[in-house]
Amino acid sequence: MARGMKIAINTGGGDAPGLNAVIEAVVMSAYHRGWEVYGIKNGYTGLLNTDEIIPLTPERVRGISSIGGTIIGTTNKGNPFQMPITNMAGETEIRDVSDKVVENFKRLRFDCLVAVGGDGSLKIAHDLYSKGIPVIGVPKTIDNDLKATVITFGFDTAVSIATEAIDRLHSTAKSHERIMVVEVMGRHAGWIALNSGISGSASVILIPEIPFDMDKICEHIMERDIKGERYAIVVAAEGAAPKGGRAIDKGSGEVGRQDVVLGGVGEYVAKEIAKKTGKDTRSLVLGHLQRGGSPTTFDRLLSLRFGAAAVRLIEEKQFGKMVALVPPDVKGVPLEDAIGHIKLVSLESDTVRTARDIGISFGD
Ligand code: F6P
Repeated sequence: MARGMKIAINTGGGDAPGLNAVIEAVVMSAYHRGWEVYGIKNGYTGLLNTDEIIPLTPERVRGISSIGGTIIGTTNKGNPFQMPITNMAGETEIRDVSDKVVENFKRLRFDCLVAVGGDGSLKIAHDLYSKGIPVIGVPKTIDNDLKATVITFGFDTAVSIATEAIDRLHSTAKSHERIMVVEVMGRHAGWIALNSGISGSASVILIPEIPFDMDKICEHIMERDIKGERYAIVVAAEGAAPKGGRAIDKGSGEVGRQDVVLGGVGEYVAKEIAKKTGKDTRSLVLGHLQRGGSPTTFDRLLSLRFGAAAVRLIEEKQFGKMVALVPPDVKGVPLEDAIGHIKLVSLESDTVRTARDIGISFGD
């Protein structure tokens, strides 16, 4: 009898609600075809230390779709093409260890790698595909900034959490006649700030796509003030920057990390508003609350659909593809269509126009 497929799955980059649902759908869909699935721990590093590979059985994954995080771990420091290795002298150097990943993958007789990740992890998946590993990508990021799919899983949950937080800020901001500045995630694209800001009735939304002007923000706040609305909520994406300026890099100092850690724009904007308007101002950072906990029903269903579609692509041997939501269907699209181009908020989109129509300022 022919051997069934042996599938490896990993989750890379920042976690997002829905990762476990993808894992559950991949394992169950494979199981019903008589195939086996193995979890590669912590992104691609589990293909270097192969004792970090765990069999994923139906018993292990049944019911995990409602749980946040990822049962196989994740990292944003495990790029096998640029791996930090500490030598005998205690010095760290960057090495390309991708040949080892390919060798281990083949030695363990895997037939396919399902790589669940954002732009960085999917780029690695694509490069491994070019080195001969049959790969299927699954798009994940709460930032929703991946091309080729209308939406990534994790985004809906993040927007729901941010909207709930903004809703809660209204009563305290109003009671104290304060300006509350809430910083949400969104490195390159302002999808979370835009959708939660509109839904949560923010007065000002700051996104990376629209450089802001502090004077315009303050004018908008004071115009409200004159009309008797003495409080305001400002929602700022972490990647938002003033005109002519840059997003604030917190500088994590994490070895092997290839992206910068952003943060601080909320505090900066709050201080400037206080200085220029004399109003009481507070700032808060929602941070990883947006990534934790259970996925919403939308994200859960999308993740399950992505996982099952990934297994169908394997069955059809459509390697080098990524599952994508192209409504009404989930389809396979070439991995290279998704990577290397960020999906930004279109300034002409009806969502941006809706915000402007209902009186929300973008600080421009
Ligand atoms: O890319 C997803 C994301 O949540 C970004 O919005 C954010 O800048 C980054 O990850 C934070 O990464 P970390 O969890 O490593 O601080």
